[in-house]
Order: sequence, then C-alpha cells, then structure tokens
Amino acid sequence: MNPKLIDLRSDVKTLPTEEMLDAIREAKLGDSKTGEDPTVNRLEAMAAEMFGKEAALLLISGTMANLAAMMSHIAPGSSYAVDAEAHVYFYENAHSAVAGTKPIIFRSCKGLIEPEEVSRTIEDSGKKPGLLWLENTHNRGGGRIIPMEMNRRFFELAKNRGMKIHVDGARIFNAAAASGTPVSKFGACTDSIMFCLSKSLCCPLGSVLCGDADFIERARGFMGRFGGGMRQAGVIAAPGIVALTTMIERLKEDHMLARRLAEKVGEMPGLSVEMETVETNMVSVDFDSSVHRLEEWTETFKEQGVLVSSYSPSKMRMVTHRHHSAEIIEEAAWRMRTAAEKLCG
Ligand SMILES: Cc1ncc(COP(=O)(O)O)c(C=O)c1O
Repeated sequence: MNPKLIDLRSDVKTLPTEEMLDAIREAKLGDSKTGEDPTVNRLEAMAAEMFGKEAALLLISGTMANLAAMMSHIAPGSSYAVDAEAHVYFYENAHSAVAGTKPIIFRSCKGLIEPEEVSRTIEDSGKKPGLLWLENTHNRGGGRIIPMEMNRRFFELAKNRGMKIHVDGARIFNAAAASGTPVSKFGACTDSIMFCLSKSLCCPLGSVLCGDADFIERARGFMGRFGGGMRQAGVIAAPGIVALTTMIERLKEDHMLARRLAEKVGEMPGLSVEMETVETNMVSVDFDSSVHRLEEWTETFKEQGVLVSSYSPSKMRMVTHRHHSAEIIEEAAWRMRTAAEKLCG
C-alpha cells in the first residue's frame, strides 16, 4: 500500500502552482489601501469585467467578503432571507454577531429550493427582508449548482419584492465550468457576488466581491473598519490573476474525478451516494450512523491512508482538486473499499 496520505477533506487544502509563486515574486506592488497597487487594481478590474459588474474588491477571505457584502446591502436590525444550510448561516456567526442582521430561514433540499417556496417563507414570516442570500455552488448541498433558469427566477423574485440579491459564490467557477455557463450570466442574476481564489482555484488566500461601484465603495469602507485594509496586496492578487487565466477550465477534471469517486464509493458496503447530486467537485456520502458512527468511518479510512470530512453525523464529504489524478482517486477508492469491507465485515 502506498503509505502517502490521500487528502479528500477540502479544496481549501490546495497549494499554489509554480506559476502562481513566480507571479508573486514578479508582481508590481504598491499601497493597495490607497488604490496604488497595480496588481490588485488589475485583478479587481478583471473580476468586475468577468462578472459584468462595475467594480470589484479583493478581500482577505470569503468570510470577510460575505460580511462586507451583507453590511453594504442592509443595516443592522434588518432581516435577510437565507437557507438554513447556507455556509454563512450554518458555519459563521458573523452576521448576527457583527452585522446585527436577522435571518429569515428557508430550507433547501440537497442544495436546491424553488423560488416560490422562498417567497412563501418570506410571506409567512410577516417581515420585509432587504436581502436574498444564495449560495452557488452549494457546499452543504454537496456542491450542487443552482441552474441558470432558477437564478433568473430568484432575481425576479428579489426585484419584485424590492430586495437585493447576493450570491455566496465561493465556488461559482465550479458552477460555471460544470454547466458551461460564463460567470457573467451568473453575475447578471445578482446585485453582488463573491468568489474565493483560495478554494479549487488553488491560490493561497483571497476572495473577490463584485457589484456596482457604490456598493463596492461601501464594502471597501467596511473592509477598512474590520481591519481588513491591506498594503502590498499585489502578492495576493498576482496568483489570483494566474488563477483566473489558467485554473478555470481545469476544474472540469476535478468534476470528472468526483463522479468517478462517487461511483466507486456508492458501491462500497455500508455507503451510498446519490449520483444526481454529484455535479461539481464534491461527493456527499450517506451511511447508517446507528450501524457505524462517523468517527468509525473516518478513523478506518485514515488507517488506510485516506482523509475525509463530514457534513453531519451520518454524512461524509469528499472533495476532489488539482492535487488528485485519476490514479490517486483509484488508489483512494481501493483503500476505502478495503476499509469499508473491514468495518462492515
Ligand atoms: C460556501 C462558502 N462560503 C464562504 C466560505 C468562507 O470562506 P473563507 O474560508 O475564505 O473565509 C466558505 C469556506 O469554506 C464556503 O465554503
């Protein structure tokens, strides 16, 4: 057995490419807090153009970009409509703790929900939320894509109700690559959209928020107040430019590997995968936790040299990215099959 660990926990574990490291060394730098870093300015202009927006802003993380977006759209005390499974609601506490905004919660099923149901939830709440919050691809939905036609209906819903619409597009390039849709089309269905450079695009850090010029100016103000204003941030922007020019098409390889992995894992004893949910680089794996607990699964896999993460006590998550090849995925599947046979007898 190859003793080297195979890490399927997350695409945030990816490392920068050689080209990115070269770009960092060669980047022209300046004080980005005063708009003088040419590399940051270039990345922001590039992102704005790709998403069809007036402006963009480079921030240190997805969490900060989402928080700045929320606070730039709605004031403390206001409400926003959000999925109970959305990253921002499920994992982050920043919106209630820092922005002082109140969630009106709708419930998606495997990352998807009909706009009419969201409308009904808003009606039933008796409130007038100022913002509709979506996530595409949907992390806890197993990397699902909100289809374009549904994005258009969400946009219509938001406009009819006088709401802004923000998309947490941490992995929007996965949605774009998998569906063959340019990100400008996703951008056209939003008031603002955030994407992460540091996930499957493999940059060491950084996220970019896109929107109209006034919105981005407000977001820039919040970023400063959070202590997120940066100086020579060209070192973050330079690999970001490499990512936007070289790393998008290759995401299709991650998606192919995820499907291959899903097919194999779904056939293992004690495990099941709903193949229709495997649209991008994530695989959501179900098991009966009354038979074997999550820790038993993850520990047995680890003993065989495979690391996985989880969504819940009865659902594991496996993520493919650029450090995986077809051979590595075959090897991971072989190791996990050995582990599953051991565990399930
Ligand atoms: C959908 C989604 N949004 C936002 C974030 C937050 O990004 P960051 O870790 O850069 O703060 C994550 C992180 O995993 C995410 O999956």
